[in-house]
Amino acid sequence: MSPARLPGAGATAPPPHPNRGASALAVLTALTQGLATAGARRSRPVAEVDRTLAVEVRAVRRPCADVAELDLVPPGGGPLPGWRPGAHVDVELPSGALRQYSLCGDPADRSHYRIAVRAVPGGTGSREVHALRPGVRLRLHGPRNAFPLAAAPSYLFVAGGIGITPIAPMVRAAHAAGVPWRLVHTGRDLGSMPLSGALAALAPDRVHRRPDDAAGVPAAAELLAGVDPAAAVYCCGPPPMIEALRRALPAGQRFHSERFSPPPIRDGRPFTVRIAGGPEVAVPADRTALDAVRALRPDVPYSCRQGFCGTCHVRLVEGTTVGDPAGPGLTALCVGRAQGGSIVVDLGR
Ligand code: FES
Repeated sequence: MSPARLPGAGATAPPPHPNRGASALAVLTALTQGLATAGARRSRPVAEVDRTLAVEVRAVRRPCADVAELDLVPPGGGPLPGWRPGAHVDVELPSGALRQYSLCGDPADRSHYRIAVRAVPGGTGSREVHALRPGVRLRLHGPRNAFPLAAAPSYLFVAGGIGITPIAPMVRAAHAAGVPWRLVHTGRDLGSMPLSGALAALAPDRVHRRPDDAAGVPAAAELLAGVDPAAAVYCCGPPPMIEALRRALPAGQRFHSERFSPPPIRDGRPFTVRIAGGPEVAVPADRTALDAVRALRPDVPYSCRQGFCGTCHVRLVEGTTVGDPAGPGLTALCVGRAQGGSIVVDLGR
């Protein structure tokens, strides 16, 4: 991802736009028809479900010095399962680590999946991806879509750095459907901003590439300048950017976001996790149960660190949790926190 994702976290209800009803309906219909037309080119219906896929690295490119763009193909040929803009795959890396990456290619081309991964200092997953070479075989899970593009009268897309990866297919889909859109892409410098140069070729006047080295880090007001009150705003980027946009947008404006790093812990309180049949672990106010448990049990798996992928979900034996998206009887170690000071979990191993 362009690691990681709390999709829809910022989604808010669409505002009522009584004066725009007719035109909104027309554009909505256009988008639906446009997407349906795109879908008609597919040889099979799209089904985004959990599945495991064997793929092979076909090509590795370097669109930027620290970004690797990989094409992944089925070893035996044939179409890959369909996907929609915003979808991601879980990639099993050679070390066994599981990482999530957005699909950034063309959903209509099912001969391969494309991902683009920025090398993160100290990031073991990104380092492994950058070491992959053509011919290496991998396993994928997905595609799954936790950041779907919903029909809207118009769109403002805001991407921070490698956050452009889920946004790029959205831009192409909106453009193909004839729905008004704008893209603002930020980054350190133009040389560190993949994909948006090609998107600018679609409609140069709708793409604003805004490097920090031109005028500093842009404020939310600059990113949102001129936004249509009826537009759906889609943002993928670092948490501070998402929070700044969320705060700056007027109440009622549709906002959909996806982070590529874990959310900050707010108002965290220390608690303890007792591992069934094992030791008790102290979780400090500024750490997650996953961090604390992995300090003792480094084999406890994780992926998104945001509660939605399910990789770190374990059985909750005792206690209750807050901020926990896992289902009944479970807890997501990466985000769930004990409500009453302690919980007991079964790691199943
Ligand atoms: S790591 Fe994905 S739910 Fe916890």
